[in-house]
Amino acid sequence: MKITITETNFEQVEADVLVVGVPEHPENTDGWNEFVTSYSDRLPNWLKTGDVQTAFKKVVKMPALGEQKYNRVLFIGLGARKELTEALLREAFVAVGQALATSKTTSVAIWTAPFTNEQLTCDDVAFTAAEGLGLGGYKFEDYKTTSNERDVVLEAVTLLSSADKDELKAAFEIGQVHAHAVNEARTLVNMPPNILTATEMAKYARQLAEKYDFEIEVLGKKEMEEQGMGAILAVNKGSVEPPQLIVLKYTGTDQWEDVVGLVGKGITYDTGGYSIKPKDGMVGMKGDMGGAAAVLGAMEIIGETRPAKNVIAVIASTDNMISGEAFKPDDVITSLSGKTIEVLNTDAEGRLVLADAVTYALRSGADYLVDVATLTGGVIVALGNDKTGALTNDEAFFEEFMYAAAETGEFVWRLPLTENDKKRLRKSDVADLNNSPGRDGHMIFGGGFVGEFVGDTPWVHLDIAGTSEASAAHDLGPKGATGVMVRTLATLVERMAE
Ligand code: BES
Ligand code: ZN
Ligand code: ZN
Repeated sequence: MKITITETNFEQVEADVLVVGVPEHPENTDGWNEFVTSYSDRLPNWLKTGDVQTAFKKVVKMPALGEQKYNRVLFIGLGARKELTEALLREAFVAVGQALATSKTTSVAIWTAPFTNEQLTCDDVAFTAAEGLGLGGYKFEDYKTTSNERDVVLEAVTLLSSADKDELKAAFEIGQVHAHAVNEARTLVNMPPNILTATEMAKYARQLAEKYDFEIEVLGKKEMEEQGMGAILAVNKGSVEPPQLIVLKYTGTDQWEDVVGLVGKGITYDTGGYSIKPKDGMVGMKGDMGGAAAVLGAMEIIGETRPAKNVIAVIASTDNMISGEAFKPDDVITSLSGKTIEVLNTDAEGRLVLADAVTYALRSGADYLVDVATLTGGVIVALGNDKTGALTNDEAFFEEFMYAAAETGEFVWRLPLTENDKKRLRKSDVADLNNSPGRDGHMIFGGGFVGEFVGDTPWVHLDIAGTSEASAAHDLGPKGATGVMVRTLATLVERMAE
């Protein structure tokens, strides 16, 4: 995409659409009178009659009305200006992105001044505009043979601002990187499970590694057997698709200390196994690799922005199927860590693959761990579909993580993990652990099980079962995969590099 930065001169703007933010009392914006004069003297009247609105996210499209070099104006309501935040700007630009996509726009000019306030600079506007336009313009390329309409992509963006050009451009480009990475994660989650197999996911990771110069290691079934990864192998037993443990290493500094480990659940399809899901509960389980997608998306941002911090990403990928060979309730398996596990429920498979992945991340040198997984239906019961659930064993690391989440605006809420919960995870007549202590508060058992494998390493567990997909269009994008936690994970690494 071509990015141009110019001084605000409405006579010179050449674009399909000029985007104009309309906060309450827009006349307090520097340059508003010039805009009114150049566009239409009737604008103040339209604001009074409500034809153009200041209500937050209200979009009004108007044609150019004179000799302008742009074809249309897109007004976007911003509400009370002093209450605008980065998160609200992002949402407003998502609405703009959606409106542009439906109006087949290829070039856009954004006048930054109306979007600023005492806290929000033109750079913030550039950053959130790129994020919002990218996220709002997302559409999954489906497999319909009937739709022959080609999607229009935005080819050129002009920012009208008097701020430093290089900084504006850099801010816009980072926003683009964020949006692209989130959209890539969305696509992985939206892909059907017969196409996105563990092998395909490994192929995708190899392409990332090639592009960003990551070290990559992919362990297949044989390597897992050699190492003794009994937990992921058990989950894979019923499948004809080989399992893959995907390990990406990013070197941002010579110091191999304080290495961040990002671990993702990559179940490409979860039937539940012999503890089979009811038919209605099974549909949608192609998205059970949302944690893996979040980690891969974050690695893309890290590969682009190259923070001074070393990162190890580990993704445990397989599907969870049924066959004469499949694992079953009552099986006892030995994980890579050596700990034995009594399988009480084959549908609690995510924590099993994560156990081996976390152990592998620790053995590869991770000093901090974040695992991300569509792990339990319990988190949806507890927190709904708009909050990611968290557990931790380290207050300071969790605080650092929450700063990152606040920066990206992704809502995360922590649940407790008590000694009593751990006792129940360790209760088994035949093994060290059981994989399903009960349904009461079972988000905690899911994450808590993973916690049994991290030792004293500072660890944050993220259960995105509720947030990884949306059943309808939402503030940051369309129905379907959300790409949640991509931006927060990358932001955490960037913050830890500072
Ligand atoms: N993949 C599911 C969790 C899930 C549920 C993700 C809904 C997305 C939407 C997970 O593997 C699972 O089946 N969890 C069980 C655990 C139970 C058997 C202890 C659950 O939450 O019911
Ligand atoms: Zn399951
Ligand atoms: Zn699952």
